[in-house]
Amino acid sequence: MTASYITTPIYYINAQPHIGHAYTTMLADAVARSRRLMGNDVFFLTGTDEHGQKVERAAQKSGMATPAFADHVAGAFRQMCGDLSISNDDFIRTTEPRHYAAATEIWTRVQKAGDIYKGEYEGWYCTVDEIFVPEAQLVDGTCPTCGSKVERLKEESYYFRLSRYQQRLLDWYRDHPDFVEPAFRLNEVRAFVESGLQDLSISRTSFKWGIPVPGDPKHVMYVWFDALTNYLTALGFGSGRPDEETRIAKYWPTVTHFIGKEIVRQHALYWPAFLMSAGLPPPRRVVAHGFWLMGGAKMSKSLGNVARYQDYVRVFGLDGLRYFALREMPLGQDANFSDEAILTRFNADLANDLGNLVSRATTMVHRYRDGRVPASLESTRELADREIQKVTNDTIASVKERFGASEVSLALQQIWSLIGGVNKYIVEREPWKLAKDETKRDVLDRTLYHAADALRVVAALVDPVMPDSAARIRTMLGVESEPWTTLAAGTLVPGTPLGAVEPLFPRIEKTLEELRGMTTANDSTPPVPPQPSSPASSPVPASAIPGPAVDAATASASTDGRIAIDDFMRVELRVAKVLEAEAVPKSKKLIKLKIDVGTEQRTIVAGIAEAYQPEQLVGRTIVIVANLRPAKLMGIESNGMVLAASPEGGLPSLVAVDPALPAGARVR
Ligand code: MSP
Repeated sequence: MTASYITTPIYYINAQPHIGHAYTTMLADAVARSRRLMGNDVFFLTGTDEHGQKVERAAQKSGMATPAFADHVAGAFRQMCGDLSISNDDFIRTTEPRHYAAATEIWTRVQKAGDIYKGEYEGWYCTVDEIFVPEAQLVDGTCPTCGSKVERLKEESYYFRLSRYQQRLLDWYRDHPDFVEPAFRLNEVRAFVESGLQDLSISRTSFKWGIPVPGDPKHVMYVWFDALTNYLTALGFGSGRPDEETRIAKYWPTVTHFIGKEIVRQHALYWPAFLMSAGLPPPRRVVAHGFWLMGGAKMSKSLGNVARYQDYVRVFGLDGLRYFALREMPLGQDANFSDEAILTRFNADLANDLGNLVSRATTMVHRYRDGRVPASLESTRELADREIQKVTNDTIASVKERFGASEVSLALQQIWSLIGGVNKYIVEREPWKLAKDETKRDVLDRTLYHAADALRVVAALVDPVMPDSAARIRTMLGVESEPWTTLAAGTLVPGTPLGAVEPLFPRIEKTLEELRGMTTANDSTPPVPPQPSSPASSPVPASAIPGPAVDAATASASTDGRIAIDDFMRVELRVAKVLEAEAVPKSKKLIKLKIDVGTEQRTIVAGIAEAYQPEQLVGRTIVIVANLRPAKLMGIESNGMVLAASPEGGLPSLVAVDPALPAGARVR
């Protein structure tokens, strides 16, 4: 079986995941899934890059110990994989012991090769990008990539003899013209190497949060030396495990690194040089995609113009987001992320084109043939029937090729042109007219057969991008998932009973204004521990989290998800004053409050201890749900619920009202 190793960058944990991280992960996931469908033995890796000064600083800012901080934010990236149905086989964290072993091993090998020496480094350092910036590249004293202020650093440092590798790298590029996709990125790296290479500083003494240099623990490894090694760690490199050699021999020569264009140099220059020095071959391929822009600039935490993937999953469904992101950005180019673009694509491509094909092809088989796929007799087929089969087979071939080249956007374009062709075929045949004419029975059979058969192929082809929708289409068609290796037009078995028809992508009838209120672009939420999500463990209601409580898919499928005023009035919201507050023993999250609600005093337990000290709460005017059934939390009876709002994954903040309001005033 052909092996195939696929990786994403490992993400820095100084920021919460956003659409940019989600995109690379979904792109790599779609390619990994396509290779599995091609019968490959795929190993798909993603994870988090946890060392370095900026993580140390972010932890200090959050008031948490660095390891605890790392656990929390790494958790958010792991959660992202679950939320986006990512099919990764492993999730690597650079703080794991297995990674220390691998990084130590590669350092030791490079040292034995005579490529490491001690020197002194002085230069301008960007702590956001963790990179020294050559003086000539500074823009008014700031980093040219992220715009943050750079710092002057001077320290004892180990160096890697990068200069030794200039010719070997150039030879490698010459012999492997497809090493970097798109090819113009390889040209950029080549030009850089041709202009001359300086040795690279690969250790730091100015902070501690990193992997100690073997034999000299006052140094920690430069974060890129540490991070790039993750790709080997996950194969067991340096573990001494019995299968280490075989796993490396099997997967390493096949590896494709998916990355954003800003880290091509690290992957296509530093990394191959480190590997050559350690006696290992460079990666097979580096695929560099462009940036998602928002408001004309790269979406990034440091600029504060990020879109949260969670908002778009909520509004457009997971497959809506996966489709949009993978279709909208052609490989290697930048693309704009906007509510307008995603809404347009959703309604045009999914609700309209694909949605129509699904409902036409399946509803007609139910209506005209009792829900069983009719047969298409070869002998009676006309040009249009043969044509639709040919187009289907041609599409299968080119989609496989496009996925093979990681050109997922082009693959989707081709699938959509097949969808357009089948919709046209149906419309031109006018089955609703054929159904009224008994002499046209055979033509109707053929039309229904080829429409359903092509839809089966469409489901198989969209599977890597929209696994959930593909499965739902298959259920409607009554067929099983099938590998791409044998996928061909005309193999749908006549007589197959169809499942029930259900709407796949109901149109989203929302104005851009409404959408804007549902998504929180420009979110600059600091990375903080996720708040408790289970209502049993926290009285902070889920409905206090901004955004619609109603899932978009349900909302658009039913009425519009809105409630009557009476429904709202059943919830008794009241102003209350905090009289006493104390931490609940043995609980990190709970605070016990004694409150005045005007007519009485009550005890309420609130899940806000990570955000507030008890003494900060006394005297505050808050809002509570006053008519909630009592609940016991850590053995204390809580009579009501405090209202607080939390950014996704962030700490709760109490809902504020005018402190002049008397206790007991109704909030409505
Ligand atoms: N930790 C390094 C990578 C080490 S790999 C051995 C790093 N981390 S990161 O958190 O900054 O993630 C960068 C990656 O996230 C980019 O290379 C890209 O894959 C993705 N993106 C982050 N912002 C993005 C956009 N605005 N647009 C597209 N992808 C983006 O660099």
